[in-house]
Amino acid sequence: MKKPRTLAEPFRIKMVEPLRITTIEQRINILQTAGYNPFLIRSDDVYIDLLTDSGTSAMSDHQWSAMMLGDESYAGAHSWEHLETVVKGLSGMPYVLPTHQGRAAERILYGILGGPDKVFISNTHFDTTRANIEFTGATAFDCMSEVSLDPNTELPFKGNIDIEQVKVLIDKYGKGNIGAVILTVTNNSSGGQPVSMQNAKELRKLCDEHELLLVIDGCRIAENSYFIKHRESGYETKSYKEIAQEMLALCDAFVMSAKKDALVNMGGLLVLRDKEMAQKCTNQLIISEGFATYGGLSGRDMEAIAVGLEEVFDPDYLHYRIKSTEYLGRHLYEKGIPIVRPFGGHAVYIDAKALYPQIPVHEFPGQALVCDLYTQGGIRCVEIGSVMFGKKDENGNLIPAKNELVRLAIPRRVYTQSHIDYVIDVFDDILEERPQARGLRLTYEPPFLRHFTARFARIK
Ligand code: F0G
Repeated sequence: MKKPRTLAEPFRIKMVEPLRITTIEQRINILQTAGYNPFLIRSDDVYIDLLTDSGTSAMSDHQWSAMMLGDESYAGAHSWEHLETVVKGLSGMPYVLPTHQGRAAERILYGILGGPDKVFISNTHFDTTRANIEFTGATAFDCMSEVSLDPNTELPFKGNIDIEQVKVLIDKYGKGNIGAVILTVTNNSSGGQPVSMQNAKELRKLCDEHELLLVIDGCRIAENSYFIKHRESGYETKSYKEIAQEMLALCDAFVMSAKKDALVNMGGLLVLRDKEMAQKCTNQLIISEGFATYGGLSGRDMEAIAVGLEEVFDPDYLHYRIKSTEYLGRHLYEKGIPIVRPFGGHAVYIDAKALYPQIPVHEFPGQALVCDLYTQGGIRCVEIGSVMFGKKDENGNLIPAKNELVRLAIPRRVYTQSHIDYVIDVFDDILEERPQARGLRLTYEPPFLRHFTARFARIK
């Protein structure tokens, strides 16, 4: 068999951003000063930044040139008309509201739909989604099957919502108390796993039976479409955009952080089918974000989103994007690093509990791995485990998160294949040093979203 060719980038580089290379001694000091929390490290001290794929995309020459056409008029800007046309074409929905980022769209929508006694049901609520829902006094339930939550099962659509669990919640709370059902595609907080069209259709049917509102959080809808085309029968000949359109046709509202699949650094969208709901949301938008034809965005931002939303469906781009993530996952897996499988679209998730079995969960094996990756290679990533999601019982003891994961999120069009190879190489050092890996203890924690500002000390 012919040796497969290197997965080369479907773009070339026109502008470079120098990266600073630090020594291991410098990184040990930097990490200590940052309280062993990667959020507190300066980006100049990071070599490969895999903290998030959000707002970190490199824009294309087309996007940059569109920005020069930005119309900065307060009302009725042609940049707004450009964005509105593209979003209507993608979503098939008549009401488009621009926001400064995804969580602003969430705050407006869930602020209206939520409230005490309301219940929201999702495959997995992303943290800002949950926070915006809970802030209204409502309760958010995640519905994932046990098998999907197991990092070792190889299934094509591990992001799917568990329909049976949804039915139980509908019976328990009654349709009048359910604010909305939210499908997050891809399912970021559950390993970046895709949702199948079949699952979305079943959910739509259930929502119709009970007259429930279906929201799609589609900030990675293009990546999800890639998986559907290649994994779900009946979609082989459809284009990625057609698949996204088919999925969005199922929902009543589409919330999007444009910082992901719209290939921009800032922006969000709230897209609605219902006129009355759109009017309510527009009132909120004007109070907090800006006038209805710009939300929190400048005209040039809207131009960049409009172009990005077309570019993201380019088959060469999407192929490279998903294959590059898979390449990282596969090589780490072949080295013996325990990884959530199948690999997600935007990120590779490492099972830190399995990699560092000697570190008990209350000493945060995920955070330990995050620190070791920075020390060994200047790589920044994030723990998705008990630091982020751990709770406390009445005696102050840790109730651990379901898994102790570390997310390596890949910014779009930013790093080359050799950067990815470098990351893979750093894991040789991680494996070599594994027997000496030590956990951490918290020295400071804020009351909410502690992972952003918590500080730690190494356990000797
Ligand atoms: N929904 C999902 C599924 C997300 O992944 C995010 C952000 C948001 C909503 C909120 O959007 O940041 O524009 O306000 N995820 C980022 C991440 C922060 O790193 O995964 P935002």
